[in-house]
Amino acid sequence: MSEPAYPDLQLRADGTLCHLLSLDGLPRATLERLLDAAQAIRPQALGGTALRQKLAGHSVCNLFFEPSTRTRSAFHFAATRLGADVLSFDVSTSSTGKGETPLDTLRNLEAMGVDCFVVRAREDGAVAALAAGAKPSTHLINAGDGRHQHPTQGLLDMLTLRQAKGADFSRLSALIVGDIRHSRVARSDIAALRTLGCRDIRVCAPASLLPDAHELHGCTVGHDLDALLDGVDALMMLRLQRERMVEGLVPSLEQYFVDYGLDERRLACAKPDAVVLHPGPMNRGVEISDAVADGPQSLILQQVSNGVAVRMAVMLELLGDARNRQDWVSA
Ligand code: NCD
Repeated sequence: MSEPAYPDLQLRADGTLCHLLSLDGLPRATLERLLDAAQAIRPQALGGTALRQKLAGHSVCNLFFEPSTRTRSAFHFAATRLGADVLSFDVSTSSTGKGETPLDTLRNLEAMGVDCFVVRAREDGAVAALAAGAKPSTHLINAGDGRHQHPTQGLLDMLTLRQAKGADFSRLSALIVGDIRHSRVARSDIAALRTLGCRDIRVCAPASLLPDAHELHGCTVGHDLDALLDGVDALMMLRLQRERMVEGLVPSLEQYFVDYGLDERRLACAKPDAVVLHPGPMNRGVEISDAVADGPQSLILQQVSNGVAVRMAVMLELLGDARNRQDWVSA
């Protein structure tokens, strides 16, 4: 998958963000600024009223052309807790079923005063295409486009890793396991890990679930999970994206768990203080056992909480008054 020219669309000349479309090409300073803001916002992210005036007068629309539980809810709460008007648009009952294009839908909502769209799309690059057609004052946030990118998931994964392992990613060994080929989460995570200076990125999947080799440059790639666990600080497990697969890429779900599932025996072969991440939705017993998912090394629900703070930080970066940045960071 070649990376389209997103940096031009998402970054202004002065380095501030206009849209958030991809973590590939996002400068380290921008990434770290978003992570710092999310960390500072965290005490207000799960409730509280201290930030409820920050985006008063702004209107945010969630436009999801694919199913979502965590991402859509987190964006909804993030916008609400910043005081924006929020429309969580149900595409299944909208005029897209009557043939309206996504860009026409967006333009109609712009005409109602929406100035920020959170978009999940089936096709790679679809959110950037909408950004290219939107008004200059409109901001787009990619909530996952096909197999391409899921930047806010990448950011919340990095925030979770930073909380657990510290900000120096150069010492971190991260292992990403599972359906890399179909995963926009893996692509965003790998881009962010590289940008933050992680030097040991390991990737494990059956050959049928790996992307083209050029996408994994600099990563250690293998098919034998047991051989990759030694010295690992963070295991990032992925769901088999069966909705994007052609048949037959894995022999059976039972065999997949035997070969690539994370259970307690395997987890014990990583570093003793290794942490486990999963973006959800989990398929228990396919890529991860109950004992690991619910065990003491799992940060899966911490990721979910961080997801609200990260989305608040992104919206403040895009819509907030940068002159008041100090207020929200210290609120
Ligand atoms: C992921 C997604 O939709 O890309 N989930 C999420 O946003 N938390 C991963 C997945 O669907 O497996």
